[in-house]
Amino acid sequence: MRFNLYLNMKDKIDKFFEKVNKFETKSSEKIEDFRIEYLGSKGVLKQLFTEFKDVEPKLKKEIGQALNNLRNSATEKVNELKFSIEGSSNVESRFDDLTRPATPIELGSRHPISIVKNRIIDIFSRIGFTVSEGPEIEDDWHNFTALNLPEYHPARDMQDTFFIEKDPDILLRTHTSSVQVRYMENNKPPIRIISPGRVFRNEDISARAHCVFHQVEGLYIDTDVSFADLKQTLLYFTKEMFSRSKIRLRPSYFPFTEPSAEIDIYWGLKTETDHKITKGTGWLEIGGCGMVDPNVLKNTNIDSKKYSGFAFGMGVERIAMLLYQIPDIRMFYENDVRFLEQFKSVI
Ligand code: DAH
Repeated sequence: MRFNLYLNMKDKIDKFFEKVNKFETKSSEKIEDFRIEYLGSKGVLKQLFTEFKDVEPKLKKEIGQALNNLRNSATEKVNELKFSIEGSSNVESRFDDLTRPATPIELGSRHPISIVKNRIIDIFSRIGFTVSEGPEIEDDWHNFTALNLPEYHPARDMQDTFFIEKDPDILLRTHTSSVQVRYMENNKPPIRIISPGRVFRNEDISARAHCVFHQVEGLYIDTDVSFADLKQTLLYFTKEMFSRSKIRLRPSYFPFTEPSAEIDIYWGLKTETDHKITKGTGWLEIGGCGMVDPNVLKNTNIDSKKYSGFAFGMGVERIAMLLYQIPDIRMFYENDVRFLEQFKSVI
């Protein structure tokens, strides 16, 4: 009796297998009928699995496997047929209406840091500055010593440095001032360059600070360059960049410039945000500047009796945050498309 049941089951499964394999149609209704016939709640497989309960235990493994295979084949058949008619109906509908507008090709956007960097380059190139770039991995000489920051100089602590190797020191540049040194070593005045680039500091990451950010350095060396030239150049820049025409140079200290100053622009106090970002003063600091220290000229073999010059440095993220009212510096590095897409209209 049980033997018969086994034979019956095996026969039945084989026959259904054959039917499933042979089944072909291009009609979605027929596919659905087929699915219900085999895989539906009252379908062939349901019935076979009910009969399976009476199969002799030692045959259960083999018959069970055959049943699973049958179920998989039927499922696959349904998917395969559905896919083939979906594909072909799509092709048809695509050619249904030839006057239909084409699917638009999404335009990408530039990263806000690139947008701001390019604007800065553009503004300075109009008054004769060319771009000069340098390596991100620097030696001690170009990042510190040549910039009048000898070993043990206390101002080295102002810039928490990522060291790569010790003795001789190899490090990630902490500012783009290193490019000044490289350029002065290899070129004779007149020099008029700006150096945009990535810099690195071993700092805690917060809404206002990051361990990787961008700076633009400026350098102008010629005969008879004065502090007035520096001020005029910065004023021109702030007018073009921010449409603001009031700046203030606040005395400060940088080892590579003498005298040195912080550059403040008058932002205004019209809105609540203005109050917040300027801490109620209306003034905003955007970078540092000064007259190149004669020691730096000497270190790069430029005659400090004949030539003088000015330099300045500013943070690109800081400027981008001001221009686009971005509250958190980390947004620049998360690469969230919802953030980046907002800069599509800006070139
Ligand atoms: N290198 C300075 C920094 O990273 C910025 C700076 C200040 C650059 C004054 C200059 C300058 O060229 O004259 O904080």
